[in-house]
Amino acid sequence: MIKIGIIGSGAMGSGIAQVAASAGHEVIVYDSDPVAAGTAGTTLRKTLEKLVEKNKMDSAGAEGILSRITFAGHSARFSECGLVIEAIVENLAVKKDVFSELENIVSPDCILASNTSSLSIASIAAACKKPERVLGIHFFNPAPLMPLVEIIPAVQTDPARVTFSKELIDTWGKSTVICKDTPGFIVNRVARSFYGEAIRMMEEGIADMATIDWAMKTLGGFRMGPFELMDFIGHDVNYKVTETVWEQFFYDPRFKPSLSQKRLYEAKRFGRKSGIGFYDYREGAVMPAATEDSALGQLIFTRIIAMLINEAADSLYLGVASRDDLDMAMMKGVNYPKGLLAWADEIGVDMVLDTLEALYLEYGEDRYRPCVLLKKMVRDRQKFYPN
Ligand SMILES: NC(=O)c1ccc[n+]([C@@H]2O[C@H](COP(=O)([O-])OP(=O)(O)OC[C@H]3O[C@@H](n4cnc5c(N)ncnc54)[C@H](O)[C@@H]3O)[C@@H](O)[C@H]2O)c1
Repeated sequence: MIKIGIIGSGAMGSGIAQVAASAGHEVIVYDSDPVAAGTAGTTLRKTLEKLVEKNKMDSAGAEGILSRITFAGHSARFSECGLVIEAIVENLAVKKDVFSELENIVSPDCILASNTSSLSIASIAAACKKPERVLGIHFFNPAPLMPLVEIIPAVQTDPARVTFSKELIDTWGKSTVICKDTPGFIVNRVARSFYGEAIRMMEEGIADMATIDWAMKTLGGFRMGPFELMDFIGHDVNYKVTETVWEQFFYDPRFKPSLSQKRLYEAKRFGRKSGIGFYDYREGAVMPAATEDSALGQLIFTRIIAMLINEAADSLYLGVASRDDLDMAMMKGVNYPKGLLAWADEIGVDMVLDTLEALYLEYGEDRYRPCVLLKKMVRDRQKFYPN
């Protein structure tokens, strides 16, 4: 069994270390900040103790995981590893430096992976002498609980290393999907309109946020409404992802961020973690009530789901991922109740296209342009999942 190296021991690095050690690997973790590494070690022990208390693991299992994880004081120990996963700060220049330094340490066959959420894998790989050994392995937060892992080959990546990495992460009990090196990969791209279209409707006064959240939960079966979810993720993270995806798509209006969310971000009203975001969570604050109007609810749901399906269809059309991987990614990466392409079949691809065309006609904005694939499918009477 290969040894796994993890660089960066923050939320993601320590979670990935736990996953790899749980699968039986020896794991070497290095963080440039010894305090962060110390905190990660303590938090990891506490997490595992809680699992033991809840009877989700026995104490021998927990001790075994801890004994397999070494917090190294120096990155030189990565010379022992067959795969090193980077989970440091989301900054391209810093990541490039780290990858080029890593290459001087690791063995010639070692695979180097980045857990980046938004940076191009091609540009990280370009910092290496052997870019063919670099790929993206994108876990979701918290890594031990979230089943999805996106595997992202760069244009330079050797296909055999992609297959090896996918098969390895599958043995860790994760559901892997293969995804093109494009902004936001699958989940962070396709999910954008869940947030963006909800904010847009609120800004236009079509419905208030409580009503939009109610509609998406009640009619859509989503676990959380868009505003609840954005407040939960935090606007520092959610706004930044939106902005980055939009910039990286050369400012495509489909991904345009909203000023309402930008202002919350600027005001440091990040959501639950700061006590206030779209909703007010401070003591004594009263949660607004939804207007439970089924016609209005249907309008909200229809518009958001059409926009989500449009993005999933476009991702399929442009070869970002396969149909099955796109649907699985949204269910396992963000807990959607159904895969979006299967959902399109259920609603009727023609109905989805009608909604998008009506929006496009009404607004005249490129944001609502329907994906060509949907048009072709309606013309040829096709389904995403033919019977
Ligand atoms: N947090 C999330 O929800 C999430 C989800 C998926 C992917 N990601 C991605 O994972 C990566 C890490 O995110 P995080 O939330 O764990 O960050 P974090 O801030 O919690 O942790 C980053 C850690 O990296 C360390 N570090 C920074 N520069 C370093 C260097 N040069 N060498 C060694 N260690 C260094 C820091 O000391 C810190 O402990 C980012 O690329 C992020 O985009 C984050």
